[in-house]
Amino acid sequence: MNILYYNENNFLSLEKTDLSEFSNTVETPFYIYSSEEIRRNCETVLERSGPFDLFPCYAVKANYNPAILKIVLEKGFGADVVSSGELYFALKAGFSPEKIMFAGVGKTEAEMRYAIEQGIHSLNIESESELKLLVKIAGEMKLTDPVRAALRVNPDVDPQTHPYISTGLKSNKFGIAGDKAFDLFLNYRRNQNLSLSGIHVHIGSQISSPEPYLETAAYLHKFVMDLRKKNVEIEFLDLGGGIGINYEQQIDGSGTDKTYLNNILNPFLEKLKELQIPLFIELGRSLVGSAGLLVTKILYIKKTPHKTFYIVDAGMNNLIRPSLYDAHHQIIPLHKTDSREIKVDVVGPVCESSDFLAKDRLLPELKEGDYLAVTGAGAYGQVQSSNYNLRPIIAEYLIEKEEIKTIHRRQRIEDIAAQYTW
Ligand SMILES: Cc1ncc(COP(=O)(O)O)c(C=O)c1O
Repeated sequence: MNILYYNENNFLSLEKTDLSEFSNTVETPFYIYSSEEIRRNCETVLERSGPFDLFPCYAVKANYNPAILKIVLEKGFGADVVSSGELYFALKAGFSPEKIMFAGVGKTEAEMRYAIEQGIHSLNIESESELKLLVKIAGEMKLTDPVRAALRVNPDVDPQTHPYISTGLKSNKFGIAGDKAFDLFLNYRRNQNLSLSGIHVHIGSQISSPEPYLETAAYLHKFVMDLRKKNVEIEFLDLGGGIGINYEQQIDGSGTDKTYLNNILNPFLEKLKELQIPLFIELGRSLVGSAGLLVTKILYIKKTPHKTFYIVDAGMNNLIRPSLYDAHHQIIPLHKTDSREIKVDVVGPVCESSDFLAKDRLLPELKEGDYLAVTGAGAYGQVQSSNYNLRPIIAEYLIEKEEIKTIHRRQRIEDIAAQYTW
């Protein structure tokens, strides 16, 4: 069933909700998500995850709205967090601590203590200094059981994605180089406060071919076998996330596709299954990316001898992906017209030339006051927004069984002002 489509009157509908009608009743810009699409993406992952022992987690960073966390939780996913803030949200949403992994290159001592107190599944350690600090903290906390941890290894694999979302190359800040990690496993194996029993890897995001994963699988396989030769047994592998989504697709069908997921993940998992170790994955974008739209209004149309600009009320403060990674998002009108297509730049109100949602894009000739939807905005959208130019964080809505729920109210200027000393 199509989730995003134009209805018989040519109005864009998300799960049967006419978005133009809704936009007329609320302030733009806003994010709106389809709960059905998130469920569908989760089910695709779960259906393909059998018959392996695969423990799926949700990378909370992709979208930490509690309503979204609860959908993913209800589908049986664990959580991958990268800050005490994300851990707090995951726990408050109801994730059980044993299903939470904590990653990130710069955990503070306070964050580690909080995670240990909560009894989470494991901490993914990214440097020798961090490991030493963990051992010190664990000793001081006089725990009954040792703290479970994984080392994040850096396999030096090129994920063939944008450099800003590549994380498994040796030039990246993430993980520990293989030989160093190997020594750490040997040196810390008998520590009474630490159970260094897992390997974590995450090579990057928006990956759309099986090769980088296959290369990683071969690397991990060898790593585990080499450790076995030294009598070090790895008890779990956390394989990170990174499955890309189709940002090109105009309308529907952009969700995580089973065949595509199987093509990318199966060879990877098949190879690692031979090791007979429980496997975790941490998916973000592929669960929520296709479920979200950013709806924005054309404030002004400016024509110059060189360009036509659609100046809209959403900017890089709301969706930074185009400015930050030159990311492509489809932009479609809420009301489909048969007016001719023209080349435009869709730009925001922020005082930066990098404030754009699309450049040189063919869009129908529209008028001021018309609405546009930016698709594929469910992941790394609202969560990367800011108050730059003192613009408020915008509202988020969720369609749930044909009802539209406010799941995050729009920030008021008074909310921001209240945080300052006047
Ligand atoms: C450690 C880790 N795991 C999982 C993810 C999720 O990646 P994706 O949203 O591409 O699935 C990320 C994203 O940056 C990450 O850093």
